[in-house]
Amino acid sequence: MVIVFGSINIDIAVNLARLPERGETVLGHGCVISPGGKGANQAHAARRAGADVAMVGRGGADAFAPPALARMRSEGVDLSRVEESSEPTGCATIWVEEGTGASTIAVASGANTRVTHDQVPDELLDGDTVLLLQHEVPLEENRRLVDRAARRGCRILLNAAPAFPVPEDVLAALDVLIVNEIEIVQVAAHAGGGDEPPERLPEWLARRFGLIVAATYGEEGAVCHTGREAIRTPALPIRPVDTTGAGDTFCGVLAATLAAGRDLREAARYAAAAGSLACTRPGAQSSQPARVEIEAAAANLSAAAR
Ligand code: RIB
Repeated sequence: MVIVFGSINIDIAVNLARLPERGETVLGHGCVISPGGKGANQAHAARRAGADVAMVGRGGADAFAPPALARMRSEGVDLSRVEESSEPTGCATIWVEEGTGASTIAVASGANTRVTHDQVPDELLDGDTVLLLQHEVPLEENRRLVDRAARRGCRILLNAAPAFPVPEDVLAALDVLIVNEIEIVQVAAHAGGGDEPPERLPEWLARRFGLIVAATYGEEGAVCHTGREAIRTPALPIRPVDTTGAGDTFCGVLAATLAAGRDLREAARYAAAAGSLACTRPGAQSSQPARVEIEAAAANLSAAAR
């Protein structure tokens, strides 16, 4: 089973021909209100990829909470450990740039600031559990849950997004650290790797903390470094429409594929294929592929790599 401990948001996205300058108003179009949040997106992606998934987080007692959970609910994510908070449901405002699909996001965290590690009972934490966390809930709660999960033999994956330093005791307890090209620089600098060249950082972090580093580089694909071996996976050649949540899709599918007992090479291929597909459609959860589509795209990736 995959347990996702993290954020739940409503996303309010607008398409813009160009992003505004500071203090400027620009006119966009196509406002879409849809479920988001890095935690929820990752839970939804893992479920679409075929895993049994439980989401642990908080929403508000407001009108945004039901739609924020709707897609996870309809996909069959276990929401029994999503609790209500007196804070409002998290809300992200998103600008999607036409042409590149690049998204710029500002989040009002609301109820996500009230998520606590004890929402995950001990009986869910065992050797069959893959625990997936991000940085949109209190980092101290992540730390306490990682500590408990490591002692109980879970496999632990942390997506260090948005970029914040990760304490060394947390890094040492992880099985997999998932970062993009910006996050890896920040995590490594805080851990004493500030002088390492950027291309060496996956190996440096993997060796220093005895973990796997899955580093994503957008259209350049991903590198999974075990400390001994670098597994390079290309991205699919696509025309991006909206990159919102593509990293979350990568994380959720990586977790689901590892939970299914596949090896790292295959999990990386599935995750990279799914992350690419998610850029070809609008929205965070609405863009995430189902298992059959991921398998077909991953097979194309292997054929291209031969
Ligand atoms: O990673 C994309 C997500 O970041 C969006 O869904 C938004 O809610 C923010 O949390």
